[in-house]
Amino acid sequence: MDLEKLLCDRLAPAFATVAGGPVDPVVRRSPRADFQSDAALALARRLGRPPRDIAAEVLERAALDDVCASAEVSGPGFLNLVVADRALAALVSELAGDDRLGVPLTAAPQTVVVDYSAPNVAKEMHVGHLRSTVIGDAAVRLLDWLGHRVVRANHLGDWGTPFGMLIEHLADLGEAEAAHELSMGDLDAFYKAARAKFDADEAFRERSRLRVVALQGGDERTRRLWRLLVEQSERHFLTAYDLLDVTLTEDDFRGESAYNDLLGGVVEDLDRLGLLVRSGGADCVFPPGFTGRDGEPLPLIVRKSDGGYGYPATDLAALRQRTGELGATRLLYVVGQPQRQHFAMVFAVAGAAGWLRPPARAEHLGFGSILGADGRMLRSRTGESVKLVGLLEEAVSRATDLARTKNPALDDEATAEIGRAVGIGAIKYADLSTDRTKDYVLDWERMLSLDGDTAPYLQYAYSRIRSVFRRAGTDARPDAPVVLAERAERVLAMELLGFAGVVGRVERSLEFHHLAGHLHRLATAFSAFYERCPVLRAPDELRESRLLLADLTARTLRQGLHLLGIRTVERM
Ligand code: ARG
Repeated sequence: MDLEKLLCDRLAPAFATVAGGPVDPVVRRSPRADFQSDAALALARRLGRPPRDIAAEVLERAALDDVCASAEVSGPGFLNLVVADRALAALVSELAGDDRLGVPLTAAPQTVVVDYSAPNVAKEMHVGHLRSTVIGDAAVRLLDWLGHRVVRANHLGDWGTPFGMLIEHLADLGEAEAAHELSMGDLDAFYKAARAKFDADEAFRERSRLRVVALQGGDERTRRLWRLLVEQSERHFLTAYDLLDVTLTEDDFRGESAYNDLLGGVVEDLDRLGLLVRSGGADCVFPPGFTGRDGEPLPLIVRKSDGGYGYPATDLAALRQRTGELGATRLLYVVGQPQRQHFAMVFAVAGAAGWLRPPARAEHLGFGSILGADGRMLRSRTGESVKLVGLLEEAVSRATDLARTKNPALDDEATAEIGRAVGIGAIKYADLSTDRTKDYVLDWERMLSLDGDTAPYLQYAYSRIRSVFRRAGTDARPDAPVVLAERAERVLAMELLGFAGVVGRVERSLEFHHLAGHLHRLATAFSAFYERCPVLRAPDELRESRLLLADLTARTLRQGLHLLGIRTVERM
């Protein structure tokens, strides 16, 4: 059981009696005691009583004796709570016997659609898609582990006007040659060649326009060429997913094209609901509260003046299908911050149309950019956007070199495994350990450092514990009595007991830096414990207890990292 929750449960009835109604005791970790509640302060004004009186009365009424070594009123009316060692030890024992490390399956499973990764056909994945893929993958892993029904939606950009030019270029090359070129994985070169022709050649432009019409009209040959493009691109994306070690598969592609047949119905229904406004030849919805720089109301354009449907119409159709057909009550969109307004408008329109109503809700999980060492948007030496696969390969190769230098005795296979786990882990951790909405700097030295807030540090802590067990030649006994004699053992126990609370909070906020931060604190607490408290040389009872603490730490690190999509290795 989560300690914070336990203390909350003990304080809540007392607060309720004093306040004459339910009160959240707001129990938080505190450097002054183990935990602190400041709920009496907030209540004081409402009850017209001094906060210290309220706090004192709550203490008198609360049943804390079996849990707390001390509980007292401090300062202007805080409640300071110090947990009793015996209670702490009992909770750690309970944790040791629990496969789920104190994290319960959700009592209210939801269908959650996670819209993430979503690269564009015939374009290389770039670093923006990296963040979406890494964050989305973590969301999927966490929600799935908690028992929700998770639908992965890879909203591939596989439709729209650029396909006229791409298919026309493909037809010029001939199918066999085009398939060969695309299978080399150089999607950008293909795209650029098509673009160059489009810019230079009026006749090609005209043919491209006709192609779009043929594509939308379902012309068979055009569709075949389009499918070739999509398939080759998907293959490239799957290679990247494999390298990145994420759970996306080919069954998760739900491209924009999949909603094509629904777009007409979406616009018709918006019209029927009286939401559609004709403006500048286009069909628009003006959701209230959105204005441009000039103060004019902003339109969400659902049908362009040329009669074509665009990105917003597709998102409305997809949303309606997710809440309707799939019955989802939580919709997540892991897409960069620049699309914030787009999603806010799509959600507002879907709300007005009745396609998104409680309990269903949609959240845009926006994120910042990855910056280079110079603090500007990450670019390649030639000034282009950095290709994802190249970046991942560089991470793995740097980590493999490090592993070889640090541990020359390991064979090639083991070194390669460490290189992959550490290289990819370092990239994911750098991403997930910073506040999602902020930019962050891609700094190889820092990301790969063995002593910092990094994946390698956590992976190393894990492998170090595994090596203790190799030397011990035995596993931990989960039913061994827990002894918390040293301060360092107590601190470690507190961190172990905090895991469930953190996971619960991240389930709601999807702010993975809180989970990363917790794992880092846990690894740091372990390191201090390991320095102070001999394990293998300790007398029997202590040795068993310390092995249990070490094992619980390893299991928590492993599970926590797994939720972030990061692998652990048995030795490093
Ligand atoms: N393909 C788009 C891009 O690369 C992202 C799509 C995000 N998902 C969505 N439902 N709009 O910017």
